[in-house]
Amino acid sequence: MPVTCVFGMQWGDEGKGRLVDLLAASSDVVVRYQGGANAGHTVVVGREKYVLHLLPSGVIQPRTVNVIGNGVVVDPWTLLAEVDELERRGIQLGGRLFVSDRAHVVLPYHKRIDAALERLRGAASLGTTSRGIGPTYGDKAMREGFRVADLLRPESFVERLRATAAARNGILARAGLEALDPEQVVRETLEVSQRLAPYVADTTALLLEAHRAGKDILCEGAQGFALDVDHGSYPYVTSSSTGPAGLAAGTGLPPRAIDRVLGVVKAYSTRVGAGPFPSRDTGPAGLHLGERGHEFGATTGRKRDCGWFDAVVARRAASTQGVDSVALMKLDVLSGLPELKVCEAYELGGKRILAPPALAEDWEACRPVCRSYPGWDRDLSGVRRFHDLPREAQAYVRALQEVLGVAIEVISVGAERDRFIRTTGGVPA
Ligand code: GDP
Ligand code: IMO
Ligand code: MG
Repeated sequence: MPVTCVFGMQWGDEGKGRLVDLLAASSDVVVRYQGGANAGHTVVVGREKYVLHLLPSGVIQPRTVNVIGNGVVVDPWTLLAEVDELERRGIQLGGRLFVSDRAHVVLPYHKRIDAALERLRGAASLGTTSRGIGPTYGDKAMREGFRVADLLRPESFVERLRATAAARNGILARAGLEALDPEQVVRETLEVSQRLAPYVADTTALLLEAHRAGKDILCEGAQGFALDVDHGSYPYVTSSSTGPAGLAAGTGLPPRAIDRVLGVVKAYSTRVGAGPFPSRDTGPAGLHLGERGHEFGATTGRKRDCGWFDAVVARRAASTQGVDSVALMKLDVLSGLPELKVCEAYELGGKRILAPPALAEDWEACRPVCRSYPGWDRDLSGVRRFHDLPREAQAYVRALQEVLGVAIEVISVGAERDRFIRTTGGVPA
């Protein structure tokens, strides 16, 4: 399939990085299209573990070309640190990493403003990753941002920065933080922009040409549907469109070029940061999921809240994003739980609802309506065929496929590359 979109259908951390690395083995180009260094995508290869924030998760596969599209907000310091780290570990990126000249740049003051806004929100803080994501996308929409191409023109960069410094300093002053000095920002940025320059390209042209030549292009979403700026639990969301809609805007590939949409879900739910999470479990089951699933943020190290699979969110993701098939990750983590639950609907104000409400306060007030399934004890990490799973695990996967209404084509039973089951056309009914 020439253009495939892989995106998260929950609250992020579904295992997108692990899946993209797997699929990248047979892809020519791997592209990130939105988000920034708020993402933490983990790839495990033997004893090596890589946590990627800005680099596409295709970089570990040696044959791939990797693109950071125009829709990504790029923190050049973090990006170059990632490049250095990979090169130190023997992975060379010269000639196979391209960064869009149109991508907006996260500058140090964006991170300070992110932290300042969180402080000003007080008890209503969103729990952002403090990576400057909201302020950078905010500047982009306000038409006050700086793009990668601007960094390569320091004279006009400093001029525009001087002209807009007053507004930014207003926010910093309100939070009791030091004002930004445009000349210093430019000095800091000059060095990094020289190092970034060799990777900069018109990536839209590059992708259109790859598409025309029939190359396999794998596009990697960051975050997940419930954190989507339009469809998620606003304002407890990130600042971009996380699904295939974001792909077209964030790469320059036309929407009709997308041949296949592969949604990624975890076999349960997690959430990090503030906001509604009706199927959260704070009892022994939640503890089991957190411990067995090692549910700590790959970017901030924060503990992720854990709970049952939320079919209300996943169904909405499947229908609005046109999901063709699903990859189900971390099924192995459920081994040892006596009972499993799936949240099939919410109850709000005495009514049963099948879609998330518009207001976060209503979403917060929703009670999960769950169906129970028997659990299993066996370790699943060695299973490679659906029929070799315990009967209870087969029934649980079938139930998820049914509530989603979309074929589950990949089942992952471990973080390592070979630990998965492929079920072409979905699991048998
Ligand atoms: P992403 O942000 O969607 O790429 O996901 P993260 O990397 O933040 O979190 C997923 C975590 O689960 C990582 O530590 C992965 O190594 C791990 N992981 C992925 N798939 C599986 C799986 O099937 N089983 C287990 N046990 N761990 C997995
Ligand atoms: P990956 O790609 C999980 C959450 C933050 C916070 C909200 C807004 O690894 O799945 P932001 O810094 O984006 O302004 O924070 O979004 N968040 C994520 N949660 N996985 C992620 O990325 C996330 N990126 C942002 O915790 O609640
Ligand atoms: Mg992650």
